[in-house]
Amino acid sequence: MSDFTLPALPFAYDALAPQISEEQLRLHHSKHHAAYVANANALSEKIAAARAANADVDPKLWRALSFNVAGHKLHSLFWENLDPKGGGEPSGALKNLLEKSFGSFANFQKEFTAVATTIEGSGWAALFYCPKHERLFIAPIENHNKIYFPEAKILLVLDVWEHAFYLDYKNEKAKFVAAFWEIVNWPAVAARIAQ
Ligand SMILES: [Fe+2]
Repeated sequence: MSDFTLPALPFAYDALAPQISEEQLRLHHSKHHAAYVANANALSEKIAAARAANADVDPKLWRALSFNVAGHKLHSLFWENLDPKGGGEPSGALKNLLEKSFGSFANFQKEFTAVATTIEGSGWAALFYCPKHERLFIAPIENHNKIYFPEAKILLVLDVWEHAFYLDYKNEKAKFVAAFWEIVNWPAVAARIAQ
């Protein structure tokens, strides 16, 4: 039995165009995301097999598992964060929390955009919720699993690996980030705070 499964997208492959083309989205989901799922399952089976054979479990396997599982989880969240009818500004409790944390929605958007466009190497921009302080904060996630806040919950992520936008935007990452704001699923982001 496989531990990890590629989730179906909550929309059709062509639904996010023109912000994300059908070709770009299909490749990203059915090849890149699928590869993280396949790798995570293979690694997890390798660890179980070594243990079953009373052999040493190579610690490098845990490192690789972390990378692939995190890649799988972040992509799954990324798809939920998008909506062909999305964009605009959030309302209600999420809007209030963004204003409390960043001063204004415009500040939040500016800071998140800056993080997304200046990631070193491959990574993600992420919006976190700290339940203890009831505040939001932004941080880059390098690769899929570096820079980690044990008690914070990730609400919103933007994949800025080149594989996420290169077919559509080539080297113009800022244009991809601008397009992202037009398809953010704010109700889905808000729902994660309530969870
Ligand atoms: Fe990706």
